[in-house]
Amino acid sequence: MSRLIVVTGASAGIGKATAKRFAENKDKVLLIGRREDRLAQAVKEIESSVEGADVALLALDMSDPGSVARLQEYVKSTGLSVSGLVCCAGSAPQAGGEDIDSVLIEWQEAYQSNVVTSVIAVEGLLPVMADGGSIVLYSSIAAYRGSGGTGAYGAAKAALHSYIHTLAARLGPRDISANVIAPGYFADTDFFGDRLTTARETMLVRQTALGRAGDPAEAAELGFYLCSPAGGYVTSQILQINGGSYHGV
Ligand SMILES: NC(=O)c1ccc[n+]([C@@H]2O[C@H](COP(=O)([O-])OP(=O)(O)OC[C@H]3O[C@@H](n4cnc5c(N)ncnc54)[C@H](OP(=O)(O)O)[C@@H]3O)[C@@H](O)[C@H]2O)c1
Repeated sequence: MSRLIVVTGASAGIGKATAKRFAENKDKVLLIGRREDRLAQAVKEIESSVEGADVALLALDMSDPGSVARLQEYVKSTGLSVSGLVCCAGSAPQAGGEDIDSVLIEWQEAYQSNVVTSVIAVEGLLPVMADGGSIVLYSSIAAYRGSGGTGAYGAAKAALHSYIHTLAARLGPRDISANVIAPGYFADTDFFGDRLTTARETMLVRQTALGRAGDPAEAAELGFYLCSPAGGYVTSQILQINGGSYHGV
């Protein structure tokens, strides 16, 4: 029987690659993002490249608690429980000014986009999650070495590290694993928008031991492993995937 997998932030970059990886495994995959047209495009791409792909979409803002009812309703309509939840939704806020109002906006946006989106997905889906399932959250290399602006993005991602240890302990009795993936620089994503200058990209690639950016399919493979029986004993971990640009701790 196919598993039901929920991927947030699935209309672009790592989330889209993740949804595709599960579809290739014949899992039933729900793609979530805010913009329906982008999701529809991602669904189309997956359907055209994966024969028999079983993919659906829901346009939801995962920082809005109102999303939970629609999510649960969808899951119930499938007659399945959620076997895997991969929370890729996240973004780095534009750094504003250094006045206190701008700083606060930056920190609130970082928290909403990276922490609240994950917490709402996890806590909202737990009642319909299968025992033996898996949860994967997306952090960042920035959680270790800081980020631009006043550092809100890196700090928000670091909050997920603490959350995952609590989750793993809470859910261990249900045999649910809970892990964080912390990527370095990945190309072919919308993450940097127009903020990635050639000089910055060169610098990010130079920092790696492998001398190249990550491919979203590589992060997707790690998420897939963590949600597979082979990865069943891996829990409460922060797995870094960064081409060697930051050493594992
Ligand atoms: N790319 C990198 O180099 C890199 C490095 C370190 C960490 N990361 C982390 O890895 C994860 C995936 O990054 P990515 O590069 O694949 O990002 P991306 O290409 O920018 O895609 C982000 C996805 O999240 C969705 N999203 C954003 N906010 C959302 C919300 N509130 N509710 C629902 N969906 C939301 C976006 O769609 P909508 O905008 O339509 O909602 C989109 O589908 C992120 O958490 C990011 O912080 C990425």
